[in-house]
Amino acid sequence: MCGIVGYIGKEGAREIILRGLTRLEYRGYDSAGIALFNNEEKTFNIYKDMGRVAHLESITDFSYPSKIGIGHTRWATHGRPNQVNSHPHQSGNHRFFIVHNGVIDNYKELKSDYLEFNTFDSDTDTEVIAHLIEKFSNEMSVNEAIRKTMSLLEGSYALAIMDTENSEQLYACKNKSPLLIGIGENGIIISSDLMALVGYSTKYIPLQDKSFVEISGNQYVIYDVIGKQMEHDIKTIDIDYFNIEKGEYAHFMLKEINEQPSVIRTIISKYFDEDKVTLNGEIKKALSVSDRLYIVAAGTSLNAGYIGKEMFEKMAGIPTEVHIASEFAYNMPILSSNPLFIFISQSGETADLRAALVNVKAKGYRSLTLTNVKTSTLAREADYYVELHAGPEIAVASTKAYTANLAVLAILAYGLSNQSFDLRNELSKVAISIENIIDKHEYIESLVKESLTKRNCFYIGRGIDYYACLEASLKLKEISYIQTEGFAAGELKHGTIALIEEGTPVIAIISQRKTSKNTRSNLNEVKSRGANTFVISTRGVHEHGDQIVLDDVYELFSPILTIIPAQFIAYYAALHRGYDIDKPRNLAKSVTVE
Ligand code: G6P
Repeated sequence: MCGIVGYIGKEGAREIILRGLTRLEYRGYDSAGIALFNNEEKTFNIYKDMGRVAHLESITDFSYPSKIGIGHTRWATHGRPNQVNSHPHQSGNHRFFIVHNGVIDNYKELKSDYLEFNTFDSDTDTEVIAHLIEKFSNEMSVNEAIRKTMSLLEGSYALAIMDTENSEQLYACKNKSPLLIGIGENGIIISSDLMALVGYSTKYIPLQDKSFVEISGNQYVIYDVIGKQMEHDIKTIDIDYFNIEKGEYAHFMLKEINEQPSVIRTIISKYFDEDKVTLNGEIKKALSVSDRLYIVAAGTSLNAGYIGKEMFEKMAGIPTEVHIASEFAYNMPILSSNPLFIFISQSGETADLRAALVNVKAKGYRSLTLTNVKTSTLAREADYYVELHAGPEIAVASTKAYTANLAVLAILAYGLSNQSFDLRNELSKVAISIENIIDKHEYIESLVKESLTKRNCFYIGRGIDYYACLEASLKLKEISYIQTEGFAAGELKHGTIALIEEGTPVIAIISQRKTSKNTRSNLNEVKSRGANTFVISTRGVHEHGDQIVLDDVYELFSPILTIIPAQFIAYYAALHRGYDIDKPRNLAKSVTVE
């Protein structure tokens, strides 16, 4: 959801910022822009346009040295993606350049209260911030003007700001949207996340909400809104550079699908001591004393949450509810007397979850975040966090974070249960079975070519297979744009079956003995109405003619397997349609606005 990068130092700002923006492009890629100081001619220049960072690079002038600049990659919220609405934005007299990630809820009120006579170029909320800073800086120092502006802004923002009257200084501030300062030997980077810092600095400071930083050369001072200097922690970056490169793979998504067996093995190595699950004692206690778990998540993490519910209830006997974060934040159900809230988030930055977490904390309840990014906002702000250990996930369509979530949820549920089966061995079997599916990827590709030729598609299943269908259909729709629904197999006939036409693809996921016959009869119902059906099943419940048959694993773990062919189906459907697999249209990987 918009990425921002700023640089000040002795090295080439343009190169550092463009490289950073390329790494942050997963946060949004509707348009990109950069503002740079020309150290030779002492002028400020701006380049911005619709489209990707590669295009921005092609329109940026490389002929002069530049030691300070700010850049942005956009996921549009206010105003269509076009050149004018692209960041950086400028104040009315072009004194200030700013880039913004977030949403200002009261920008219309601020316009009418403070900027009645100003003219604006764009439709964005961001431009209002630039105008306010300029207005206030006529009466006070820039430091004070930015802090005064911050005190008026309602909503979320991470901002990098350049003042054309002072090419030696860079400013940044944040509230709710993430922002880090990377400390390098020859300069300082401001960035929305760690990706842009990898390879440049090994130390960074995660800025706190409502903080403001003034940077010149290698010096930085962090203030709160009233101008008091703030304490801060310097942390070490532990992301390996090679983990954020595609390597031999055509796409990050393909790389990440292929990494899943090793992710499961890493998780085993992190959460087992010999054959015993090693859960942090406090976390175990928090989970086991609660009378009900409330899982709160969005997107793929939400789909993992549904399976987590099955695991907590069936393995550990703890009642569990699953809630859509954006709904839960403003419409909480009646809660049990001793709840524990589990926030599941690959990025740990999703604004919908953060809004829910703030409400939960305000009510004094305890919370646990399951995340792939231990330095993220949700990890920091919850009482406890558990790491997914999936490694950086770059493709917008989440794959390995989903399977990592399921494996970690299985470990948590097992840790709370009286189960005595050999979990380590079961998870190891899952890793091997995933490898067996990866070996069949060419066969899956041929199935996709033959069968997924229509504009729509259904995945159907029952129980835990239904939850797997929700994720399978999300994968397919988000990257191939085939309109796909995941449906409870028995419910399809109550209305939605009206959409089945000659040739409509219907894919059944069947891994549960209890319901396999019922799902098969639902499949027959659509087949007799013209659907082109195919089945992903597990060996124990398979029937002759099933197209994809997977190994048998512990029944509650079957979604870790059944999702793998579905990920390949999505991948190949998008590949054969010629779409941008790693950066599907309209999406962003880290959604930091509500
Ligand atoms: C965005 C992404 C989805 C992701 C969802 C939740 O919508 O496009 O792929 O599942 O956010 O993200 P989180 O980081 O909280 O798991």
